[in-house]
Amino acid sequence: MEPIGRKDFGEDFHWGVSVSAYQIEGGWNSDGKGPSIWDAFVRKPGKVYHRETGDIACDFYHRYLEDIRLLKDLHIPCFRFSFSWPRLIPRGRGETNPKGVDFYHQVIDACLAMGIEPWVTLYHWDLPLALEEAYGGWTNRQILDDFLRYVEFCAQEYGKKVKYWMVMNEPLAFTALGYLLGIHAPGKRGFKNFMPAVHHVALAQAEGIRLLKQALPKGVVGTTFSTSPTFPYRERNLNDLAAARRYDAVLNRLFVEPLLGRGYPVDALPSLKEVFQRYAQKGDEERLIARPDFLGIQNYTREVIKHHGLVPWIKGRPIPPKRRKVPHQAMGWEVYPESLFLALRQFAQYDPTLPLIVTENGYAAEGETTHDPERIAYLSQAIKQVHKAQQAGVLVKGYFVWTFMDNFEWAEGYRPQFGIVYVERRTLERKPKESAYWYRDFLAGKVTIE
Ligand code: BGC
Repeated sequence: MEPIGRKDFGEDFHWGVSVSAYQIEGGWNSDGKGPSIWDAFVRKPGKVYHRETGDIACDFYHRYLEDIRLLKDLHIPCFRFSFSWPRLIPRGRGETNPKGVDFYHQVIDACLAMGIEPWVTLYHWDLPLALEEAYGGWTNRQILDDFLRYVEFCAQEYGKKVKYWMVMNEPLAFTALGYLLGIHAPGKRGFKNFMPAVHHVALAQAEGIRLLKQALPKGVVGTTFSTSPTFPYRERNLNDLAAARRYDAVLNRLFVEPLLGRGYPVDALPSLKEVFQRYAQKGDEERLIARPDFLGIQNYTREVIKHHGLVPWIKGRPIPPKRRKVPHQAMGWEVYPESLFLALRQFAQYDPTLPLIVTENGYAAEGETTHDPERIAYLSQAIKQVHKAQQAGVLVKGYFVWTFMDNFEWAEGYRPQFGIVYVERRTLERKPKESAYWYRDFLAGKVTIE
């Protein structure tokens, strides 16, 4: 095969890096910011590796100019970051925080002044704590009003400057980890929390898209999804095949299908009917549907599933890469770049005319400084899969590396490093890794992928 270079993806292909507010900003209680559910969660013993927090994180709140300059030096065209809702509206509803509002103006202005396109995510998991305390956050339908007011505020405040918008970051990840398994904030467990959270997030995703599109006719509005193509552990075992199908319904289909008018994937998981029976109101079937301008695809790996009758509901479990004796990275996830192609192809089937953007993809290491050949190998293979998808007719229009710099990896603390820029934890000094220079040279057309 011919080597692949940037130009092979087309002139209008968006290249960038992604970050999120809580993972990099720090300044957790600076200048009027309200607490988020993550500020509370990290203070509970046993929740986060080494009791680490995002209190300071990478201190992007104070160092954003230096960081955006570095983006410019690396010639990275697009920067995907998120707004912290409690920095803008400290109690989640009501009064806004002028210094927080100003902060994002400065970040956006700095990007624009340096020729970098800002891509804004509105919800990357840092719910205002006040809303969790007042009515249980996403488990309560009241959240819809507050969320939509927040979205409207952002559209009005920043709509003249920002063209690219994403409503949600990975709804499955934060509802499953935060409301079913309790390993992310707010640390809730069980179906009684998960099911209503799913429905309210699915409604908020569609309503948020609708609202942004109405408010910003020139905007480009999408939302993002976590993806993990699923495989049966034993290829021809009917039980494993059925379990892999159930996992697929949860991991890949649960939020995108209602958005595109197909409802929840009850064919694979009939018990999902309960979501509607228990938590829906009249008109919800239509309210769940919206037409985004693109779907954000986030992919890191695949899952290989074995039937397991004792696991409630889903009756199966993923077999970790260690047991399968295949390579894995510092999150314990299989190194399997082909999964990006499979995820793109799977999502393209819904509507081949709806553009897909890879809004996250990356590689985690541990104990790394700036020498990161494994990341370069992974990213180049993953980018090759994006090209393969294009060749196969998939309308994929962008690729964003997760992540710009080593940061707070949620319950895993600072142990896994996904950054193409190393951040020295003590001094917070930034040092581009070899992968950052590799990405720069790839974007400059100086290096190709074999
Ligand atoms: C999230 C990021 C996270 C990354 C690696 C995604 O699930 O959007 O916040 O850091 O994957 O785990």
